[in-house]
Amino acid sequence: MIRLALRVDRAHAEVALAELLELAPSGVEEVDLGDLVEYAVYGAPGELPTLPDLEAAVGDALVAVSTSELEDDWDERWKAFHQPLVLAAADPAAPPRLAVRPPWEAPLGAVTEIVIDPAQAFGTGAHATTRLCLELLLALADEEARGPLLDLGCGSGVLAIAAVALGWEPVLAVDYDPLSVEATRVNAAVNGVALEARAGDLRREPMPAAPTVLANLLRPLLLDYASALAAPGDPPATLIASGLLVHEADEVASAFAAVGLRERERRERGEWAALLLTR
Ligand SMILES: C[S@@+](CC[C@H](N)C(=O)[O-])C[C@H]1O[C@@H](n2cnc3c(N)ncnc32)[C@H](O)[C@@H]1O
Repeated sequence: MIRLALRVDRAHAEVALAELLELAPSGVEEVDLGDLVEYAVYGAPGELPTLPDLEAAVGDALVAVSTSELEDDWDERWKAFHQPLVLAAADPAAPPRLAVRPPWEAPLGAVTEIVIDPAQAFGTGAHATTRLCLELLLALADEEARGPLLDLGCGSGVLAIAAVALGWEPVLAVDYDPLSVEATRVNAAVNGVALEARAGDLRREPMPAAPTVLANLLRPLLLDYASALAAPGDPPATLIASGLLVHEADEVASAFAAVGLRERERRERGEWAALLLTR
């Protein structure tokens, strides 16, 4: 197993991350090094992006790329990187409300428990952006009448699967990456939930309308989605927008305000932010 690490200064971190996620959608490890951020991807030799790909991707922002071969304990390190996500109930005596765990972890006793194989596509629950979406989804589940839901940029399907498990129906999951669509179908079957997963590129075609939309995408895609909603059609009644850096949240909130979606809640975790917007 190879670990390919890329260090960039914080000001260019977003560009580097967006490009790395395109090249390695199954997830990126993030290490905070003060003024620098290190992003690392893991893979077998031949599976990882090559150095010229990375240089082209991040251009001026490139600080350093390094490759290291992992010792025999790489599988343990891979597992340590993919820790389960547990969202606790407000009452500490109650069982956790939601857990997302890799298949090798024993059940965690949560009310809603989802199994996601981290080898397949982005979205193990471990990333702050996914976690923020799941937190806001749980808050919605407490108050919203649940109906049709669209998961835009579904990755592994973790959010769509959680939505079905929490009572939304029917759930449609869309991603432009065929591997993500396939991973979502496989993960839905593993978790015994019914949903539809299909390929679609929000930059090239209109996205299906739904009263509730989850969009864990990076800033440029969220801005594209906001522009697309400006065209005639029904904006969602509720939108969870995640994948934003804290300093980008105002700009994205304004873009959605322009199409009639008002910010109801903002949550932050480290450098990441997510918005709950309603019509
Ligand atoms: C940050 S991941 C989110 C994955 C998962 N929903 C989660 O929350 O963990 C963003 C996803 O958006 C997808 N994506 C990127 N560009 C897209 C586009 N133009 N149209 C549709 N999906 C796109 C990527 O393939 C990726 O799976």
